[in-house]
Amino acid sequence: MQQLINQIHLCKNLSDLENLKISILGKKGSLTSEFSKLKDLKDEEKKEFAAKLNEQKEQLTHAFNLKFKELNEKFLDEKMKQDAMNFYYFDENSKAGALHPVMSTMDKIIDYFVSLNFSIEKGPLIEDDFHNFEALNLPKSHPARDMQDTFYFEDKRLLRTHTSPVQIRTMLTQKPPIRMITPGAVFRRDFDLTHTPMFHQVEGLVVEEGQKVSFANLKSILEDFLRYMFGNVKVRFRPSFFPFTEPSAEVDISCVFCKGCGCRVCKQTGWLEVLGCGIVDPNVYKFVGYSNVSGYAFGLGVERFAMLLHQIPDLRSLFEGDLRLLEQFR
Ligand code: PHE
Repeated sequence: MQQLINQIHLCKNLSDLENLKISILGKKGSLTSEFSKLKDLKDEEKKEFAAKLNEQKEQLTHAFNLKFKELNEKFLDEKMKQDAMNFYYFDENSKAGALHPVMSTMDKIIDYFVSLNFSIEKGPLIEDDFHNFEALNLPKSHPARDMQDTFYFEDKRLLRTHTSPVQIRTMLTQKPPIRMITPGAVFRRDFDLTHTPMFHQVEGLVVEEGQKVSFANLKSILEDFLRYMFGNVKVRFRPSFFPFTEPSAEVDISCVFCKGCGCRVCKQTGWLEVLGCGIVDPNVYKFVGYSNVSGYAFGLGVERFAMLLHQIPDLRSLFEGDLRLLEQFR
C-alpha cells in the first residue's frame, strides 16, 4: 500500500498520474480486481476484506486527488507562461505606428499653452446659431456670415464652422480670470486644393477683470508661441476684421520654405498667414453677461501648422490615410 502511495507521489506529470490511476483503480486495475475476489469468500472474511479494500480505495483516491491538484496547478502555470505575450518584443520587420502629423502638431501647440497654465476646454461639434454666430457678434443679417459656408441640419442646428463658440460656452459657465485653449474639429462647405470640409483649429481666450489685458500682451504671447513652433522666424501683425474681436489682426510668419525670399508656397510674398486674433469685442461680453473685463482671443488652423512644420506640400495628403505618409513620421 505504502508503495502505491509513493508511486503516486513520484508522478511527474498529469498523464503519468492518469496511467497509474487506471492501472490501480481502472476497470482492470489491480485494486479493482481484488474486489472480484470477494465473491469467493465466506461472510465473515468477506466483510473484513471488503472493509480493507474500501479503506485502501479511499486512501488511494485521496492521494490521487491531492497529486492531481498539485500537478494541474503546475501545468496551468507553465501554460500561462507559454501563452503570455511579450509586449516588449521588437521585430525589426514589423511596422511601428506613428502619430498622425495633425495630432502631433496639435500636441505640440497644446503643450505650449498648458505650460503657461491655460486650461483645455471642450465644446460640441454640433452647435446652434447662438453659440456659433449670434453671441460672437454676428447678428442674423450680418454680411460676415457669408465668410463661412456652413453645414446646416434641418432643425437649424449646424456643424460648428470654427472653435470660437467654445469661447462663449466657457464664458457662460466660468468667471474671469479665464485662460483657455480649445482644440478640435471644425466644418465648412469648402473643398479644393487648399480646403477640406473638416479640419482642426486651436482657439485661445484670455479674459481678466478690469482693463489689464492689452494688445501688447496678445502680441508678445503669440510671437513667443510662433517662435516656439517654427524656430527663429519673423512675425508680423496685419490689421484685419473678425466680428468678435476689435481691433483684429492676422498674423504672418516669414516663409519657412524660402526664408522670406519668395517662393511658390508664399506666392512670392515671403510671408505665410498663420493666425487670426484680436481684442475681444465688448459686444461679445454683453451676450455672456460680463462687465468691466478685458481680454484677447486667437484661432489657428492645425493642418496648416502641420504642413508648414513638416514641409508637406499638399493639404489633401493629410486626409488620404496613405501609410507611406505616416511612415515618415515614425
Ligand atoms: N474663428 C476665426 C476663424 O475661424 C479665428 C479667430 C479666432 C479669429 C479668435 C480671432 C479670434 O477664422
